[in-house]
Order: sequence, then C-alpha cells, then structure tokens
Amino acid sequence: MIDCRNRCIHTFALLAIMLSAVTLIRCGASQAADPEKAYVDQHYPDFGFLPSPSQYKGRLFTLSQKYPKAEPDVSERPEFLKIDFQKNWREYLLAAQDYCFRDNVLGGDVADDFDAALLDQPKWFHVPWQHYGPSGREGVHGLTKEAPVQPQQLALSQTYQGGQMYAVAIYNSFGGYQIGKVWADKNVPNAKNVRFPVGTVVMKVLFTDVPSEEVPSLSNPLKWNAYVTENYLATNRVFKEVSLIQMDLMVRDERAPHGWVFGNYQYNGKMNNKNKWKNLIPVGIQWGNDPDVNDGTWGDYTNPIPVITRRNPHLKQTIINPDDNELPPTHLGWNGRLNGPADNYLSSCMSCHQTAQSPTKSPSSPLFQAATQVPPVGSKAWMRWFQNINCAERFDADKPTSSMDFSLQLAISLQNFYHWKDEAHRTIAGRYRNEQLNPVGDDVTEEFEILRSEPIESNQIKPR
Ligand code: HEC
Repeated sequence: MIDCRNRCIHTFALLAIMLSAVTLIRCGASQAADPEKAYVDQHYPDFGFLPSPSQYKGRLFTLSQKYPKAEPDVSERPEFLKIDFQKNWREYLLAAQDYCFRDNVLGGDVADDFDAALLDQPKWFHVPWQHYGPSGREGVHGLTKEAPVQPQQLALSQTYQGGQMYAVAIYNSFGGYQIGKVWADKNVPNAKNVRFPVGTVVMKVLFTDVPSEEVPSLSNPLKWNAYVTENYLATNRVFKEVSLIQMDLMVRDERAPHGWVFGNYQYNGKMNNKNKWKNLIPVGIQWGNDPDVNDGTWGDYTNPIPVITRRNPHLKQTIINPDDNELPPTHLGWNGRLNGPADNYLSSCMSCHQTAQSPTKSPSSPLFQAATQVPPVGSKAWMRWFQNINCAERFDADKPTSSMDFSLQLAISLQNFYHWKDEAHRTIAGRYRNEQLNPVGDDVTEEFEILRSEPIESNQIKPR
C-alpha cells in the first residue's frame, strides 16, 4: 500500500511539472475570452500520462472544466426524458444516444470526436482528479485505465492475455453543475449534499486493446490511438490502438423509482453503420437491483464465457435487448442483471454505482475485498449489494460518509485528492518527525480501492 502511494506521488510530482505549462496556456486563453465568468474557476490538470512535448506533438486531451455556476433551467432537460423508459426502453436508449452524440460526434475523423472542452462554453464536462495515480488519464483522449479483460470474456475465440479496458466519461451541464459545486474550491472540496439534478446525463465510452480480429463483434472497428500501459499488469506506457467496445449511460430521471436509469450499448461491427459510433447497439436498461432475484452463484443466467446471451425472465428492473441478430453473444451481470462486456459478470451497473461515497466505506462489489471476507454468492451479506437505495442516499447509512449519488468518478476524485494531500503532508511532516518515537501510523480513514473488475480466481467461487 505504502509502496503504491509513493509511486503515485512520484508520478504525480513529475507529471504535474510537465503538465502545468500545458494547462496554463490552454486554460488561460479561454478564460480571458469569457469575462462573465458564468463558470467555476479552472484549476485541474488535464491528464497524467504523455511523453514530453519534445517527444510528442500530436493531439492533446483538454479537461472540460468550465462547470456552470448556476443550475441549468428545467427547459434545458433532454427531450428524451419524455419517453417511457420501461415501455419504450429501446426508443429511450436510442434517443439518449443521439442526445449524447449530438455535440460530441462531429462526422469527420473519429479521433476528433468526444472532445468536450472544444466549445467556448462547453456543454459536456469531465470529473477532475482522474489524472492521478497509476490508472490516471492519458493525454491523447483522457482515457483512464479501467479493468482487465480475461481470455474469452469478449468471445469464445478471444485468447489474448493481458487485455485491458480504457474509458472516458462526460457529464452534461446538469451534471457539470454538481461537479462544479463539489470542486469549486480546489483546496477544500465539498462532499456534502451531492444530489445530481433531474436531467443529468452521464455517458462513457470504453475501448479495449484486445486485437479486434479475435472478437467477431469487433469487425469493422472504430479505433483510437492512446497512451496506455503495455498490458493490464504493466506500468510502462506505450501508444497503442484501442477499439470501441461499449457505451454506458446514466440518467437522472424523475420517473425512475430510485432516481437513476442505467443503459448499456455494445459495439457490433456487423451493423455496418456509416457513422461507426452508431454500431453501438442497445444491450439493455436498468432502473433497480431486483432484490428478490437470487439464483445462487451461477443460476441459469450468469454467463462468464459468452457463447449465447442468457436473459433472465424473472428480472423486473432490467430489460435486455431480445434480438440476437443485433446483440452479439454477451455475458451480462449477476443472474442476468444489466452489465456490459467490460463489466464483472457477478455484479451489475446499479449494484456497483450505489456504493459511491466519500470517504468510501464499502467496496463496489462484495468480491473486491480480502478473499476471507467475500460472502458466499447469494447469501444475506451478498444481497446487501443487490438492495435498492435511492439517489443521494448513503450505502453505509450508519457510517460517517457522504453519498456521491451513484457517481463513482466523484468518489474517486475525492479519494485521489485526499490521498495526494495526505502524502504531501506526510512528506513534509516526515522531515521533522522522529519516526521511531512517533511512528507515522496509517492514519488515513478506512479506504477501499474502487475497482471495476478483477480476476476472481482468489475467491471460492466454482462453477456448479
Ligand atoms: C464493478 C463495478 C462497476 C460496474 C459493474 C459498473 N460500473 Fe460504471 N463505473 C465504475 C467505476 C469504478 C467508475 C469510475 C471510474 C471510471 O470512469 O470508470 C464507473 C464510471 C461510470 C460512469 C461515469 C460516471 C461515474 O459514475 O463516474 C458511467 C456513466 C458508468 N460507470 C455507467 C455504468 C453502467 C451503465 C454500467 C452497467 C452496464 C456500469 N457502469 C457498471 C464501476 C462499475
């Protein structure tokens, strides 16, 4: 743990020096152009990893951080919120996708798409403090390192070892307003009363470095070039092509029983759309965790190696696309709840996201803790992750922590910030302290790493 922290701070210090020049030039120019200051001051580094400017002259990622100071007007809520997400789930997902693409897919080189900071007054925003640590943002597209990809996770024919997922997420202006409230003061973030306004839309695009030839659904791929680790276990960065595989969606919809609607899309190159982003076809929609559905470890629907898609008809709060011509064979979440190809097959979108708190008090999946503490799959302790809590409520209601209202990036941003701050203080304090007499204890509050997915060999889960 300490080792990792030292590495983080080291990386950060080096990169902060390298990047501050870039950040200053880019932010300085745009700030002068907007005297009204309808937005929060901009302080945050754009990214954490890129070769030095003398070695690299290509595309640069800019963090979109002109967070609106005022909550956008109700009239600006997206039109698609009028569609009934239960009855017309597919229409809802396609309209939401169009809404996300409108200002972000420009129709030229795909490398120019999703450059949210491009506009003078941007409409989409990034969460700061994702540059920090070994998984931090790379500097070409702002991608963060997400999760490993196991052999055969994406298709039976996929044998590639060491595969990984990278992703970048953006929030619309309703979401940007809430991010700005947390991060208005760069030295004293405000974690209290986080509640995203109705109308918040968050979307994320995920890319993999698994060779697209190994995965039938990745034929006709959409590729970005990014500065990523050589493989999932490596720490050295290289430029690599990564292929679009998934899109995630979160919507604060006032009709949703718990406040949020989650959606997922998977790339299918066979759709052969002229606009390749449109090859992301709906996987399904989720508005709750189905606390009553418990088919044990595997049930008939948990499906780590996707030869077919197994849809669970008992779920009432997840709908999966029924069309096998459109949806490539895919694993879903635990007992068939919604999850995408990048995600853990024993988890689910809302299960993971409802744990978003600062400080983090519970891991985002029961699997992400010491093997001896992992509860049996389907047990009462396990089902704690498949309860329904409402938006802006704490997962650990009995502990001193604040809800991040399902935003795991906000949770990570605060965790990274305090981690960095704590390290800096320790470095300074350490000079004056006799460590023998006054040992530097592990005084950080209880902390869990927020992981998206992990190999689970270490756990006692076996196929039936
Ligand atoms: C095992 C945990 C886990 C699962 C399952 C999961 N996510 Fe996430 N998700 C994360 C983490 C961690 C982040 C923050 C880091 C990042 O950007 O990926 C995140 C980020 C996001 C974001 C960006 C906004 C935010 O919260 O910061 C969206 C949107 C999102 N996920 C949607 C989904 C959807 C939709 C699904 C299901 C199809 C899903 N997630 C499944 C862990 C998970």
